[in-house]
Amino acid sequence: MRVLTEFNVFDDMEGLFEARLKDVKTVVRSSRLREGEVTLSSQLATIEARFVYKVFDKLHNPCFIAIERQTSEGLTHLIYEVVGLRAIHFQMPGVESSIPKVIRLEILDRIKDGWEKSEETWIDIYAVPTGYKLDIEGGSLVFARTPLTPLPGADVRLLSDEAVRLFLCYEKGVEVGVLLGFNIGLKVNLVNLVRYHMGVFGFTGVGKSNLTAFLIRRALESVEDLKVVVFDIAGEYSIHLLDLLQTGLLYVSERSLLDIERLTQSQVIPETLEDKIDIQFLEMMFERLVNDGRLGFLSTAETRELTLGDVLETLQSTFDMRRSGAMAARRAYSELIRRLVVEKGLNESTTLQEIAEDDSCREVFLDIMSRLSSSLSERAGLRSDVASIIDALESPSAESSTGQATSPEELALRVWSGKSPPLTVVYIPEPIHARKTVSRFIERLLLLKKTRGLGSRVLIVLDEAQEYIPDRTRVDDWTERSNKAVEALLRQGRKYRAHCWLATQRVAHLNVNALQQLHSYFVSTLPRFYDRMVIADAFSLSYDVLEKTTTLDTGEWLFVSYKATRRKNVPVFIRTPNNEAILLKNLGLSD
Ligand SMILES: Nc1ncnc2c1ncn2[C@@H]1O[C@H](COP(=O)(O)OP(=O)(O)O)[C@@H](O)[C@H]1O
Ligand SMILES: [Mg+2]
Repeated sequence: MRVLTEFNVFDDMEGLFEARLKDVKTVVRSSRLREGEVTLSSQLATIEARFVYKVFDKLHNPCFIAIERQTSEGLTHLIYEVVGLRAIHFQMPGVESSIPKVIRLEILDRIKDGWEKSEETWIDIYAVPTGYKLDIEGGSLVFARTPLTPLPGADVRLLSDEAVRLFLCYEKGVEVGVLLGFNIGLKVNLVNLVRYHMGVFGFTGVGKSNLTAFLIRRALESVEDLKVVVFDIAGEYSIHLLDLLQTGLLYVSERSLLDIERLTQSQVIPETLEDKIDIQFLEMMFERLVNDGRLGFLSTAETRELTLGDVLETLQSTFDMRRSGAMAARRAYSELIRRLVVEKGLNESTTLQEIAEDDSCREVFLDIMSRLSSSLSERAGLRSDVASIIDALESPSAESSTGQATSPEELALRVWSGKSPPLTVVYIPEPIHARKTVSRFIERLLLLKKTRGLGSRVLIVLDEAQEYIPDRTRVDDWTERSNKAVEALLRQGRKYRAHCWLATQRVAHLNVNALQQLHSYFVSTLPRFYDRMVIADAFSLSYDVLEKTTTLDTGEWLFVSYKATRRKNVPVFIRTPNNEAILLKNLGLSD
């Protein structure tokens, strides 16, 4: 390992970077949000640096600086992130409107010629604390959280690329993008990005769905035994993840969409892919899904399935009425209670389908029922009931065969029990329908996990999240129910290995309680001040950092995480790979 010294921890830009701390103040911003007046306060340091073009230009990219801090225990460095700058010339205040034009022009000429040449020019750098300090101990860098504030007059140094890498990157993480301004890949702890929920925020067209699809790929590659279920209102993910769907499952919520031509027309091919992926190609790929039994119909129509409760009731009525076989029925009843309800955690609403899908429950159930059947006389009325129950269990309905409806509860069961493939995409164009499906899916998934064991690790992806968790809810459009379900998932999910990623363009009208459960988030351009305030408030993020998102380009993100990055809540700016390029490569369509 290379020994680190002051010389490579800091980058003095060949002697050009000279800077001192001028002052630190607390900036307070207030705004009226839905929940009332919100006040954000954050620390802002002003640093004066010598004006040199090279330095000025470099500081336009994301930069980290170290402010020296003498303490009672020696010297340390407080790490700050640059959020803004201003070039200043000593004579600038002279250019006032009260000054005659000739003189104003003369001053402006002097200012113009003064940059870099005159001692009367400098750069004011604005920076916010990362909450970390840096010590150089025995040739290695030690970063630790600190509440210390810096003192005016302190020397300020620029962190070298190497130091930034050591500050921000996990050695063994999964790369999700490249740090803007540095040629460094940002590696994160992807398991934690999944485990602690994540959000993607930005105006329409900034690349949220693209990023989400890319991260789903990374998650499937690096998180063991993960099941991803994407709920797609816009009809995008069957294309973003077309390659992965060849080993996954695509569900549609309308029977008419089982028609390949209709399905193809309902999906959105991004303009940028149009010349590579056309309607014919898509039809061919979807055809293949159908042939492989990978296209299914997910219905929210209530189906009345046989449950364990129905079986218990049948047995109970047999011995209550003292019909033939009453004693055998009573024995089977108490055995079912003991071995399935007490020992395995099933309950009366557990469906026979669910019992069929769990090998050990199925075995126990069949054992009890066959013994019951063989002890019943030919004439016992119970006999034919038991026979048909055994029948239903021995030949469970064919899974996901096209045309046959699956309910959200059945999907939850399949995903929980690990019987679904790694990726499932559910296309539900109609919002009320989507809320219904998502609510019922989440409710059942959590119930299964609470009563029957953890089961698979499941990541639920909700694009257009404003449809599910708006801040104003109603019963009739199902927003009330979907809000509760998603909030429950966000609050309790981690414990039960159920996780959520959501993407949305309208932060301002989102349920803030839900937002606050996200431990990682990507933010791109949010044109409205109000939206930026909501994010800053929900995540206690410096508004000055968020302000910088207004200059981000497509595929560029502010990324903050409390759990998935090497340092807690240190905002970084990254460029993420384009999912479309990966898709084309995997489909063998790239040039
Ligand atoms: N990382 C990226 N690199 C290059 N282009 C991108 C990237 N992300 C998105 N785009 C482009 O931006 C457009 C909008 O992306 P999309 O994911 O649909 O945005 P959103 O979901 O935010 O509305 C797409 O056509 C895509 O080609
Ligand atoms: Mg989108």
